[in-house]
Amino acid sequence: ALPGKVKIVEVGPRDGLQNEKTIVPLETKIHLIDMLSASGLPVIETTSFVSPKWVPQMADQVEVMKGISRKPGVSYPVLTPNLKGFQAAVKAGASEVAIFGAASELFSKKNINCSVDESLQRFDEVMKAAKEAGVPVRGYDYRPAPLSDLSCCRSKMNSVSHLCRYVSCVLGCPYEGKVEPAKVAHVAKRLYSMGCYEISLGDTIGVGTPGSMCEMLKVVSREVPVSALAVHCHDTYGQALANILVALHMGVSVVDSSVAGLGGCPYAQGASGNVATEDVVYMLHGLGIQTGVDLSKVMDAGAFICRSLNRKSNSKVAQATCKL
Ligand code: HMG
Ligand code: MG
Repeated sequence: ALPGKVKIVEVGPRDGLQNEKTIVPLETKIHLIDMLSASGLPVIETTSFVSPKWVPQMADQVEVMKGISRKPGVSYPVLTPNLKGFQAAVKAGASEVAIFGAASELFSKKNINCSVDESLQRFDEVMKAAKEAGVPVRGYDYRPAPLSDLSCCRSKMNSVSHLCRYVSCVLGCPYEGKVEPAKVAHVAKRLYSMGCYEISLGDTIGVGTPGSMCEMLKVVSREVPVSALAVHCHDTYGQALANILVALHMGVSVVDSSVAGLGGCPYAQGASGNVATEDVVYMLHGLGIQTGVDLSKVMDAGAFICRSLNRKSNSKVAQATCKL
């Protein structure tokens, strides 16, 4: 059975823009995030507190956090690879952060300059420091509330910092090739037991198929409850929507996507953008699944960012001219 509701995590302002070679003006980023907020999206990944030498596009993270108009009930998580990033994020007012590990050793080395085990130690440090500093961490024994309860739960947890998130290269690695589902399950289980309330499984280079997605999810969901899993599909091989549909059938109800299908990872050459938010919303609504998202408003945000970047949208829905 398919879920009745799906939470869409919009990653365009972070995953979408991090790969842009030319620095996108601060006002454009802020306007994009504000337009996305107005569309009803419940979660908007806003920026990342990574090294500006590694990802220059995200160097304005503090100004972005300051500039956006936060809409009540919407979460604005940011990426934090280590303690330094975590502290800077909290100082800038972040109320949710995402740590990001990988199921592949070489990708971990290229992306965050440490082994998978070292990265897990770093994440553990972040979790501990957050507790010691008295920063509340939504995590250790927190389990996601049913979607209908999320907004009330968020308001109760006002100003709570909580940690979640990524395992990259779950269906293949640009440096190592095939990645065993058991390796993904191992990293996902470690992140979950550390207190990450949601683990997003990233097909960083978009090589997965419904077959490999199904196989991987079967193995991972033996270690982590499926209610704590999200899927994060890049669309390099055009398989993203099919992979998401398989994940929904297996009980996943959190889907990452990027407005206009922007995106890519600077440390995964040739990987194309994430699945487009417009296309995910169109599919979900067509399936009778609620998202709370206004498709036409997401399309306006997509049109705005494509105009600003002087680029055609990667969303098929945005390209379509036939209207029903
Ligand atoms: P490092 O060079 O090993 O770090 O980088 P270090 O600890 O040796 O420090 C070196 C310098 O960086 C020092 O500055 C530090 O202060 C500074 P210096 O003394 O040379 O002036 N530094 C920092 N500055 C700002 N913020 C920080 C920070 N930490 C250290 N947080 C590091 C290690 C993790 C920092 C680096 O590798 C990095 O920033 N990597 C981020 C890469 C990245 O953002 N990748 C894209 C996101 S992941 C992704 O896209 C996949 C995903 O979408 C899911 C999927 O698709 O699968 C999430
Ligand atoms: Mg990604």
